[in-house]
Amino acid sequence: MDALDLLKAKYLDGIIAASDEASLEEIRLAALGKKGEISLQMRELGKMTPEERQTTGAALNRLKDEIDGALRAKKEALADAALDARLASEWLDVTLPSRPKRQGTIHPISQVMDEVTAIFADMGFAVAEGPQVESDWYNFDALNIAPEHPARQEHDTFFMARNAADPRPPHVLRTHTSPVQIRALQDRGAPIRVIAPGRVYRMDMDQTHTPMFHQIEGMALGKDISMANLKWVLEEFCRAFFEVDDVELRFRASHFPFTEPSAEVDIRCSWDNGQLKIGEGDGWMEILGSGMMHPKVLAAGGIDPNEYQGFAFGIGIDRLAMLKYGIPDLRAFFESDLRWLRHYGFAALDLPTVFGGLSK
Ligand code: DAH
Repeated sequence: MDALDLLKAKYLDGIIAASDEASLEEIRLAALGKKGEISLQMRELGKMTPEERQTTGAALNRLKDEIDGALRAKKEALADAALDARLASEWLDVTLPSRPKRQGTIHPISQVMDEVTAIFADMGFAVAEGPQVESDWYNFDALNIAPEHPARQEHDTFFMARNAADPRPPHVLRTHTSPVQIRALQDRGAPIRVIAPGRVYRMDMDQTHTPMFHQIEGMALGKDISMANLKWVLEEFCRAFFEVDDVELRFRASHFPFTEPSAEVDIRCSWDNGQLKIGEGDGWMEILGSGMMHPKVLAAGGIDPNEYQGFAFGIGIDRLAMLKYGIPDLRAFFESDLRWLRHYGFAALDLPTVFGGLSK
């Protein structure tokens, strides 16, 4: 073995043994760097005879190429190995089932809103929305609640701050979803069938009242819509919502400024040792207010009351959620207690539909 063969063996063995890029670089410098062994030998070529130079020069060049090639190959192999190691450590089995434990849940209020919306959508009602900070015209005047009307006090209204120099009445936090009736009439005209779910506010706080709560407003307007249609729609709704075939509703004459005639609606129910049953027993529970829309309300919405008539109703969502899901205290809805939410909440991916089942 001559000197070049020894050199070759030394460097190629070193390259094979190298375990990282840094040691490869060391070998490269030792062999091919400016002061590397092979570079130094190249420099000696000048002192040789032309014949020697030819054979040794060619042999040195071959050796240089071989070492260079081996370095590159090893570098690539090291990079591949590093990638394999990383892929192995980041391995993920996408066929595993998702985690069965619920991380977050749907709040019972949201669930009931979705259920009620699904039922009315099935009966051809569109969904309308209005602002929670409302002008006093939409919240009161347009609904035939005059400035001196006692309902303004009964509603325990929250007023927004207004610059003292501004002569206009202050805006309010809407006390009910009824102003959306006016907005929907103005936006969409007649005939119309809409519901309007949303938050409402009144200055009130005890076991059955919170300063913010939820309602769903409903309204259907046409050329010949009557109380009979109202009764059918509400019965259909209760049957679907409470998921029982037999429901009985009782319409009690009442008074609301925005309906004439007006009725409060009770549902037949029983309390068997703390357990509520809908559709049987001797008890009645009030669930909503309703009536035929007042001509002044239609006019405020830009509709000719001689041409159109219709019904409207307003349902308390929080009350419905308590009844359906046996939730005893209204205030718990708004305390954000995680244990309560895990107990009463609903799985996030089970959207309620009339055909697929509302609550199961
Ligand atoms: N806005 C009424 C309230 O908050 C509820 C209501 C009663 C709405 C009768 C209506 C209705 O649309 O016709 O107490």
